[in-house]
Amino acid sequence: MKLIHVTDTHLVAAGEKLHGLDPFERLRLCFEDIATHHGDADLCVLTGDLSDAGQTDVYVLLKELLAGLPMRTSLLLGNHDHRQRFCDVFSNRPRDPNGFVQWSELTSEGVLLFLDTNAPNTDEGVYCQQRHQWLREQLAQHHDCPVYLFMHHPPFDIGIPDMDALRLRNCDAFAQTLAGHNDIRHLFFGHVHRPISGQWRGISFSALHGTNHQVPLLLNKDPDNGVFALCQEEPSYGVVLITNDMTTVHLQPFLSRPPIYYEHCE
Ligand SMILES: [Fe+2]
Repeated sequence: MKLIHVTDTHLVAAGEKLHGLDPFERLRLCFEDIATHHGDADLCVLTGDLSDAGQTDVYVLLKELLAGLPMRTSLLLGNHDHRQRFCDVFSNRPRDPNGFVQWSELTSEGVLLFLDTNAPNTDEGVYCQQRHQWLREQLAQHHDCPVYLFMHHPPFDIGIPDMDALRLRNCDAFAQTLAGHNDIRHLFFGHVHRPISGQWRGISFSALHGTNHQVPLLLNKDPDNGVFALCQEEPSYGVVLITNDMTTVHLQPFLSRPPIYYEHCE
């Protein structure tokens, strides 16, 4: 199975700038690169902060841009998104029985679980009792099947104080729910605007640059000093290859592609 991972697109109206950059043009270039080089992927997953401010017209714009991708897409919510406005525009997208934008998808390699960690009036991730109950049921239903998790907020600290202040709340409760399944293969997340990989409580994980602005690797910054650090490192998307015994995540920058050259070997 081949997946594309895109995150933190922070889309604003076409032609508008965000942090001195053009999110619409960057996302257009990102999708163009994916369509050109990875049109055979099974699915493209966007792990939240689809919009910068949850505006209805921006979700309409995103819908138009998504039409340029040849594969199916899965759209998750981030802290910058607005659930109701998203659902108004993407009314045919799946939701759980309580209206949260989370669902499961059974594939040849296992079950993909897409989680909703959005809550109004906070940038932290929230996973409430209703969502925990839905996740417990999904894990029980698919107890004999490998699980791949997709969510916006990481359920752990990553060592960057600015971001750790805004991670998922109640990480221990989330870990306890996941403990109900013994074959969780990988956790894909966004929010941190940086490429990060590792493992948490035995579960491997990966995150990516956003398609617009990034978060610098500042490990000792005071998160309460009234400013949030951003930077303009080059964006990338992820190309994920999944087999029954391996998950591989490739990072692909897309703003420019240096020419490939070939060296003859003996
Ligand atoms: Fe973001």
